Order: sequence, then C-alpha cells, then structure tokens
Amino acid sequence: MVNRNFTPFPILTTERLTLRQLSVDDQQDILALRSNSEINKYLDREPSKTIEDAINFINMINDNIKRNNSIYWVISLINTKTFVGTICLFDFSNEKSSCEIGYELMTKFQGQGIMKEATAEAIDYAFQTLQFQKIVAFTHKENQNSIKLLTKFNFIKSIEADKENSDFNIFTLTHSN
Ligand SMILES: CC(C)(COP(=O)(O)OP(=O)(O)OC[C@H]1O[C@@H](n2cnc3c(N)ncnc32)[C@H](O)[C@@H]1OP(=O)(O)O)[C@@H](O)C(=O)NCCC(=O)NCCS
Repeated sequence: MVNRNFTPFPILTTERLTLRQLSVDDQQDILALRSNSEINKYLDREPSKTIEDAINFINMINDNIKRNNSIYWVISLINTKTFVGTICLFDFSNEKSSCEIGYELMTKFQGQGIMKEATAEAIDYAFQTLQFQKIVAFTHKENQNSIKLLTKFNFIKSIEADKENSDFNIFTLTHSN
C-alpha cells in the first residue's frame, strides 16, 4: 500500500511556476476565482459569493490535505508570485487505483500554456509519487479549452457520459508503466 502523506506539503516547481499550498492570505484570489462567471461557466459547483465562503473553502481544502484525502495547489508565477489559478487531485480510490483532477485559471492568464505546464507536473505527481494507475477528469461537453488540455495529455473520452450529469464527459488517462 502506498503511503500518501502531504505533510510536509509537496511544493512543486516548473519552468515558470510554483505549485504551493493554499493559505488564508489567498482569500481575495480564491473569491475572485470562484465567483467569476466565465470561469464557472462549465463547472458544476456552488460559486463563492462572500469572503466568508472563500475562507470556508480554504479551510475545507487544507483540512482535507491534512487528512491526506486530497491535494490542492495554488499555481503562482515564479517571478512575481502572482496567484494565477489552482490545480488539484482528489476522490482517491485505492480500489480503482485512481484519482480525479481539477483545474482553473484566472481568465487573464489563460491561453499562455500555464495549465499545460501545471498539469504535466500534477500528472507526474499522481503517477510517480501517489502511484495511481488512472487519472479521471469530468468536463462539460462544451468546455473546449478543458477538452483541448486533456487531449494534449492523451486523456481518452469514455463512451458513457457522467451518470449524475449527462452534460459532463468522462476523460481517463491510464499510466503506461
Ligand atoms: C481549462 C483551462 C484551465 C485551460 O486553460 P488554457 O490556458 O487554455 O490551457 P493551456 O495552459 O493548455 O494553454 C493553452 C493555450 O495557450 C497557448 N500558449 C501560449 N503560450 C504557450 C506556451 N508557452 N506553451 C503552451 N501553450 C501556449 C496555446 O497555443 C493554447 O492556445 P489554443 O488553445 O488557442 O491552442 C481554462 O480554460 C480555465 O480555467 N477554464 C475555467 C475552469 C474550467 O473550466 N476548468 C476545467 C474543469 S474540468
């Protein structure tokens, strides 16, 4: 059995990015991200409306990390430390050896290959460190930017849609040993 432990928090770096832990100091950025109607357009979630919603969300995320139930990184630019988005791995299943991936970028930072860079790192972490065999993504069938991103990493679209919401397709990436 793999020992999945996020203490100390696994900070990751890429050419342009630092993937770091979320903190209460990120409350304004989390509110901006989670209340933005363009970002939320294809996401099946309750938007954050107030700063309290953002703080509650941050606490919930960090509590899950402390329990080793999921991992969630703030994506920030190495040079300026700017908060540009988030990426997470959650819904861990030992039985299926799988986890789910989720990601979002501030609109201003989309179209620069930032999520591609962060996703490559998160995929590597899921397969190499967490040793899952499969990564799953649920994405709205009209979410072209997300579909494009998943396709770049060779995620395969399942024939069946999500049972809970038929507007969502299921994409899976299987680890090739
Ligand atoms: C999904 C999402 C993260 C994709 O972001 P993105 O910026 O389009 O993704 P990438 O990082 O892969 O960037 C790709 C674009 O950057 C361009 N780009 C510019 N510079 C680049 C570089 N140095 N390297 C790679 N790509 C670069 C690419 O050409 C590409 O543009 P194209 O799609 O027009 O071909 C973003 O649309 C988003 O946050 N959406 C809202 C939240 C959401 O729906 N999340 C998904 C939940 S399932």
